[in-house]
Amino acid sequence: MNPRCRWTPLLLFGLGLVAAAFLASPAGAWLLHPVTPVARDVRALFYKAVAITAFFFILAEGILLVAVLRFRARPGVPPAKWHENVRLELVWTAIPALAMVILSGPAFTTEKYMETIPKSDVQIEVVGHQWFWEYRYPQYGVIFANEPLVIPVGKTVAANVTSIDVVHSWFVPDFGIKMDANPGRINHVWFNVERTGTYQGQCAELCGVLHAQMFITVNVVTPEEFDRWIEQKKKGV
Ligand code: CUA
Repeated sequence: MNPRCRWTPLLLFGLGLVAAAFLASPAGAWLLHPVTPVARDVRALFYKAVAITAFFFILAEGILLVAVLRFRARPGVPPAKWHENVRLELVWTAIPALAMVILSGPAFTTEKYMETIPKSDVQIEVVGHQWFWEYRYPQYGVIFANEPLVIPVGKTVAANVTSIDVVHSWFVPDFGIKMDANPGRINHVWFNVERTGTYQGQCAELCGVLHAQMFITVNVVTPEEFDRWIEQKKKGV
């Protein structure tokens, strides 16, 4: 059997394993079910980056395999003795640089999309504390803490994110949102969740001993349910 053929299934199996492990991990799971336009955009950008890097990975590994298999030491064949090839080095520096430039276009577009807050239906304030989240709905006069955030489905929510003490980070993977909560500074994010449900997140900035328990739960409900909920909250229930 040709030795080149023998390694191909093993290589493909290894690549498959790496991909499966990534998708099964929390860091990869959001790729499977983004629920906001921002998360979808971030996912598309991620796939573009993966496509470019996968192309170069396969190209580079392919050249490496060919070099290893075809030009390995053989008895009686003197090895080639040369090093440094300015033209080759220029080419393999210029191509990745070009790939970065190509990817920067979509990256800046996505960043601008995330950072441009559209006209919002609901405004909230997210305040990090050691070690819980406080949520405020200034337009309704509702403030509470240590409870799930509740928002209406299909509505644009603009959130001002800040902290009362140290740096936290409000991270809800399915929303494509991960924003630092800095004391003395207000950061802005927006999201429009397309499906009702309960979404989990967690503080993503080491903020002290209970950092690992600073969970985030967001209940996305129908607008009617949201109205009922906000009425109850206004009464202090
Ligand atoms: Cu708050 Cu980590």
